[in-house]
Amino acid sequence: MVTIPTRLTKFFDIQHPIISAPMALAAGGALAGAVSRAGGLGLLGGAYAVDDWIETQWREAGNADIGCGFITWKLKQALVEQPDLLDQVLARKPKALFLSFDDPHPLSNTIRDAGVPLVVQVQTLRDAKRAMDCGADVIVAQGAEGGGHGERRATMTIVPEVADEVARTNSNAILCAAGGIADGRGLAAALMLGAEGVVMGSRLWASEEAIVHPAMLEAAITATGDDTIRSSVMDIARTLEWPDRYTARVLKNAFTERWHDDLDGLIANAEAESTRWKQAWVDGEVTTANTFVGEATGMISGVRPAANLIEETVMQASALLKRYA
Ligand SMILES: Cc1cc2nc3c(=O)[nH]c(=O)nc-3n(C[C@H](O)[C@H](O)[C@H](O)COP(=O)(O)O)c2cc1C
Repeated sequence: MVTIPTRLTKFFDIQHPIISAPMALAAGGALAGAVSRAGGLGLLGGAYAVDDWIETQWREAGNADIGCGFITWKLKQALVEQPDLLDQVLARKPKALFLSFDDPHPLSNTIRDAGVPLVVQVQTLRDAKRAMDCGADVIVAQGAEGGGHGERRATMTIVPEVADEVARTNSNAILCAAGGIADGRGLAAALMLGAEGVVMGSRLWASEEAIVHPAMLEAAITATGDDTIRSSVMDIARTLEWPDRYTARVLKNAFTERWHDDLDGLIANAEAESTRWKQAWVDGEVTTANTFVGEATGMISGVRPAANLIEETVMQASALLKRYA
């Protein structure tokens, strides 16, 4: 088996420096389990912290060694109603707990006290410094090319900038890159930028194991990277209170065309538009509900088994790294 050993693979005792993104609703137990069994680190998309979803999906992963991701601000809110939620997940001894979006404090203390490796995804250098202060074992520098929520910085610059900061502060933190990495070219590039591994979202979203409506997969296969947009209209439609700094990358459609530049108008029509969007999501009606996928959609040509994607990515990266050695 071709492997690319890095500090990430050593730290987690895995074969490949690839983490599957904890994608809300899409990254269930089947995907997380498949990625871990293929030698990467598979994560559940615990996202909006719905307790029984996590439990069911953990069972779906079988005996695979998986971790779990949460949206930090949402987990903080959820803990008010369900104070045991994080402890219950930590009691499962996840391979890693992944936090993204908002200050990881004080959750970071609880996670570290439980002896569970902490992965923090960041969108700015400032947040990377804060993640190091929180004692994150792994920092993921996320570029705006990525699918789902994120911010403004590009992968190409945020990764080396954070790599320099990690080196300067002599942190033991291990850096990973996220945003636009969909094959071996992306993995090799991320390693050259100073990362020791990657988080892959969009490409694994289009895998046989992910939980995605077939019409959305079809839309992503047909789309190119030109067809995506970062917007907040989906969060208004879903009545989710995302902090203003974060937008999500999705495929443009009639809904974003209508409302992206008229958020006040959307808010004024929120009830009807929200009902319409949510029904379209269930129906896979992609001109109204948005397909959550990044610019890497232009590199998605079909739905494949996750293990296959991981293996091919590593083989391609390994060949490229040798060629330019
Ligand atoms: C469908 C989808 C859902 C996502 N949901 C989450 C999430 O719930 N929590 C999170 O931390 N990141 C989430 N992300 C972002 C990923 O963590 C990651 O940064 C991103 O997918 C990397 O870029 P890529 O999509 O180009 O691979 C999501 C991404 C996608 C595509």
